[in-house]
Amino acid sequence: MTPADGRIGPVLRLAPAKLNLTLAVIGQRPDGYHALHSVMVPLGLADMLSAAPWPGAVDTLHVAGRDAGPVADNLVLKAATALRRAVVSLHPLQPAPPALAFRLEKRIPVAAGLGGGSSDAAATLEIAVEAWQAEVPPAVLQAVAASVGSDVPFFLAGGAALVEGRGERVAPLPPLRGGAAPGVLLLTPAVPLPTPDVFAAYAGGARPEAPGAARSTSEHLAGELQRGIDAQTLLTRAAVLASANDLLEAAIAVLPGLRELRRGLSRLLGRPVGLAGSGPTQWVLYASEADAAAAAASVQAALGDGRLESPGGKGASVVATCIGAVPAGAAALEDRGGRYLG
Ligand code: C5P
Repeated sequence: MTPADGRIGPVLRLAPAKLNLTLAVIGQRPDGYHALHSVMVPLGLADMLSAAPWPGAVDTLHVAGRDAGPVADNLVLKAATALRRAVVSLHPLQPAPPALAFRLEKRIPVAAGLGGGSSDAAATLEIAVEAWQAEVPPAVLQAVAASVGSDVPFFLAGGAALVEGRGERVAPLPPLRGGAAPGVLLLTPAVPLPTPDVFAAYAGGARPEAPGAARSTSEHLAGELQRGIDAQTLLTRAAVLASANDLLEAAIAVLPGLRELRRGLSRLLGRPVGLAGSGPTQWVLYASEADAAAAAASVQAALGDGRLESPGGKGASVVATCIGAVPAGAAALEDRGGRYLG
């Protein structure tokens, strides 16, 4: 984005949430992380990040929308710092890239299992490369992404993918064929569930009743997507996908109220309820975003009148969105309030 006078203008990106349609834990690695097999898709719900070079000495970040916690801990600043370090070591004779002033419009619930912070980090890397007009080989960018967080390489690749290893092995999958994008209802309790706590509970023995089931579902789905399936076929798999998350028992061990919430949601909606990543967000699939929005209204009403109880009380967030990549380009930067159809 270089205006006519040669200055670099503001650079913008949408940073989509993600859904793990499957999440199988394959084992524990020597580095303490867990090896995964997970089919991940981006969602229409997205944060918006922009940045412009500024004459200050350090990068700055202003966050609007949802509370994302202390700015100093934000992955946007960590990703910018990690990339600057990489650029300086790639091009030691050139001046260090200038400081950037970031503005983040936060719409994705925080510490919710939806990958919002990691997506912001991936968007930061793309923005910084553009704003600095830096030459960074793809392998270096991927290594920087993995160093910032396990989900960041998935977001950097963009689109649906089979994710393996700790998260650094990302094999793109084709998008769903034809038809409307499936709708997704997301219910996020007003209690953050830190990912390390959930993996620690898993390592401590909170394991699925049927070991290996999530992995075989995950391998089957990855194969189907590779060959090409439509949205309708994916919807017929909702029940098996909703049970294909090896972190479910661990998430419930850390936040026991999730079990009752899941029962209440499936009674209310009559559909399978899945856990998003390490939680605490619950997801339910629909044929369209409009159907998900209708269900979201009934979930809001049930939370309001006490028919549905969520851990953390009434501050739960209810969002209707859809499965779908956010396309690159100016049109994607319009504010569509988290209901963007990719
Ligand atoms: O990489 P990231 O900082 O997102 O991971 C957060 C935590 O989740 C890690 O510190 C680790 O405890 C756990 N984790 C894991 N295996 C993974 C990803 C995350 O054990 N594949």
